[in-house]
Amino acid sequence: AEAPVLPYRVGHGFDLHRLAEGYKLIIGGVDIPHTKGCEAHSDGDVLLHTVTDAILGALCLPDIGQLFPDTDPKWKGASSDIFLKEAARLMDEAGYTLGNLDATIIAQKPKLSPHKENIRKNLCDMLHAHPSVINIKAKTHEKVDSLGEERSIGCHAVVMLIRKA
Ligand code: CDP
Ligand code: ZN
Repeated sequence: AEAPVLPYRVGHGFDLHRLAEGYKLIIGGVDIPHTKGCEAHSDGDVLLHTVTDAILGALCLPDIGQLFPDTDPKWKGASSDIFLKEAARLMDEAGYTLGNLDATIIAQKPKLSPHKENIRKNLCDMLHAHPSVINIKAKTHEKVDSLGEERSIGCHAVVMLIRKA
């Protein structure tokens, strides 16, 4: 049977990185002053990785690790906006536009609220989206588990894509 042409597509993304000294903390393309940063092959931008996977997931495409293998030296230290912009290009190519995005970053520290608007602006630029459809939230992990013990930072996101007319 032929694939159905869906008017809407929902996607979910999740990512987590270990925190370690000697790495920059980059979240949503914003360089956030902190004692530790995310361990990764790329720049370790947990939010951009999550949103990339949410969009790819909505489109039923291979995930970020399949499209950009961390064994490929090409992506060493890569700025993660490359991944998100490619997901946005694939979304456009598939005939969809971003309906809305809702993301939650889980970080015991640092306080992210002062950076939220800069992060949102970067996402709007990368996704060619209006600020009213991009929402970024932050939560602690109540000091428990690796997230709460400042050994990791995690992120969840959902997106809804809308079929272009
Ligand atoms: O109060 P509740 O347990 O729901 O949340 P929390 O984890 O204690 O976080 C309270 C508020 O702090 C959040 O709603 C965020 O606005 C803010 N927050 C932040 O700016 N940066 C973080 N890394 C964590 C939380
Ligand atoms: Zn990641």
